[in-house]
Amino acid sequence: MFELCASILAADFANLARDVQIADSAGADAFHIDIMDGHFVPAISFGIDMVRTMSRLTSKPLDVHLMVESPLLFLPGLAGLGVTRVSVHYEIPGGPDDALQAICSAGMQAGLVLNPETPVKAALPYLKDISQLLLMTVQPGRGGQIYLPGSDEKIATACSMLQAQRSNAVIQVDGGITSSTLPGAYSAGARSIVAGSAVFHGKIKENISKLRNNSVYTLCH
Ligand code: DX5
Ligand code: ZN
Repeated sequence: MFELCASILAADFANLARDVQIADSAGADAFHIDIMDGHFVPAISFGIDMVRTMSRLTSKPLDVHLMVESPLLFLPGLAGLGVTRVSVHYEIPGGPDDALQAICSAGMQAGLVLNPETPVKAALPYLKDISQLLLMTVQPGRGGQIYLPGSDEKIATACSMLQAQRSNAVIQVDGGITSSTLPGAYSAGARSIVAGSAVFHGKIKENISKLRNNSVYTLCH
């Protein structure tokens, strides 16, 4: 099986509490919160106040994806809110070293994010620090995009690299996940799945059942 992280970027913000409660009850394992600063990516989404709101709406783990140029500005606030996991991009100015160290020092799990064009070997120096390797399967910055061709192959390459390095980091995928693209990502080795539109657009409970309903996830690998 896999961990399903429901990305609230696709929720109905006018009914956020309702959508989160339905997804929570329907079996979402965690909630994925995309923080965008308008610099690292063009869009601005939400900040620490949304994470605080989410900590009131659910007791499920919060999985924060920082699409920001300066993650260090956000980390003290996130640590204070009991966030489980924080992922930062490899591509940020100056690199992710300081941010990964700060996440670990604050007692949170650290994730490293690679954009679609960044090769998986870029993660090699960071494997000792991370519990999650997040592979973007669309360009970061907005929801509702198409899963990029070649993503399954990249996941498989990352999976081989992690095994060769004896790393226990979990591969997470983010972007374009649907009940059609998820089996390929899972079979290639992804075990944490971020889904926004496929969870929140339409009937949430039915959407989650549809994402989970494939015998490939119960086979041993
Ligand atoms: C995109 C975000 C994703 C987004 C995914 O930059 O990081 O988390 O919410 O949305 P979907 O699942 O709709 O592609
Ligand atoms: Zn994300």
